[in-house]
Amino acid sequence: MRVMVVGSGGREHAIVLALKKSKRVTEVFCAPGNAGIAQVASCLATDASVSSLLALAKEQAIDLTVVGPEGPLVAGIVDAFEAEGLQIFGPNKKASQLEGSKVFCKSFLERHVIPTAKHQSFKDELLALEYLEKVGVPIVIKDSNLAAGKGVTVATEKEQARSAIENILSAPEGGELVIEDYLPGQEVSFLIFVDGESYAPMLLAQDYKQAFDGDRGDMTGGMGTIAPVSLLSDAQYDYVRREIIEKTLAGLKKDDILYKGVLFIGLMVTESDVKVLEFNCRFGDPETQVVLPLLKTDLLEIMEAVIEGRLAETRLEWSDEAAACIIMAAPGYPGSYKKDIPITVPELAKNVTVIHAGTRLKEGQLVSSGGRVLGVTAVADNLDRAIASAYEAVEDIEFPEAHYRRDIGSRLQKTKN
Ligand code: GLY
Repeated sequence: MRVMVVGSGGREHAIVLALKKSKRVTEVFCAPGNAGIAQVASCLATDASVSSLLALAKEQAIDLTVVGPEGPLVAGIVDAFEAEGLQIFGPNKKASQLEGSKVFCKSFLERHVIPTAKHQSFKDELLALEYLEKVGVPIVIKDSNLAAGKGVTVATEKEQARSAIENILSAPEGGELVIEDYLPGQEVSFLIFVDGESYAPMLLAQDYKQAFDGDRGDMTGGMGTIAPVSLLSDAQYDYVRREIIEKTLAGLKKDDILYKGVLFIGLMVTESDVKVLEFNCRFGDPETQVVLPLLKTDLLEIMEAVIEGRLAETRLEWSDEAAACIIMAAPGYPGSYKKDIPITVPELAKNVTVIHAGTRLKEGQLVSSGGRVLGVTAVADNLDRAIASAYEAVEDIEFPEAHYRRDIGSRLQKTKN
């Protein structure tokens, strides 16, 4: 079977590695991929438009296309492939609105009485600023549109909140935002496979989203992840399944939305309850880098079961090990960052995989080409050992001025050992 993964980041590298383990996959392509993916798959140069990707899938006689990032999903890549009778993994355009529009997502949650933070949506700057005066800080400002993981500001000062509001609503094409109550607690990433009827949960992961140690600095796409995390008690896990997942699937049906693919549920676990922070319509990045290495079931079989609506018959098996991923970013990220920094990856321990996010080859030399550059991932028999191995490898990689957090995994009190 010829499989094409769409995207060019660490998540896509992790998906490619997982698909390559399937006996039925004969060749893996990645469009466009990166320098690390090129070591294990055939990279196909392309722009990100749906029409180019569709043409590529036909040209290469691809049997299954797997979409990594949200952009093409929100743009309707699944609808376009299905209209041409091509097999593709991911939710359609209507379903992807759960991520593509924060306003849509919050009204979905409200309509179906799914626990989430209190909120208001605004297009008008004066009304948004007036509301800010009323509710005060800390407060969360979310750009309603896609913003590569950087559209959320957790404001502790009114000035910070005002400037986030102004930035979003001053866009010439007009913006929209959600102002939502700040919830103190720990975030957990709960990803599930969904086939329109049934769902299968993945291991829980935790992302470290801010740029600096101690959860300081700007939001990034994610600076490191660990899995599995045992942040939910059994009672909370049951609550999430009943009050969040089952109500979401019932709500989708009621709204006549067919959801097939991965649904990423960002949860906030507070002292008293669990609430939905956000939905994403795809695998997480860098959650995927720690979740897929622990998946023992063939990923291709799961994806086919999702597409064919047979997920209820598919049992997911997980390794009882743990995984940690440390993101090595370019200096300056998530602001403007340096590019073309030469990188040398030496031979590393067998339990370590260097996932490439923003890399390319320049005259035969591996160089950085993005903000998040490498995701150094280790699997070990417990989380402490996985984190230690990943950091040892980070120290051995030559990547001058690399920025990485030194505290990935430290937030967690109760981990699976
Ligand atoms: N790591 C968060 C995300 O993928 O959106």
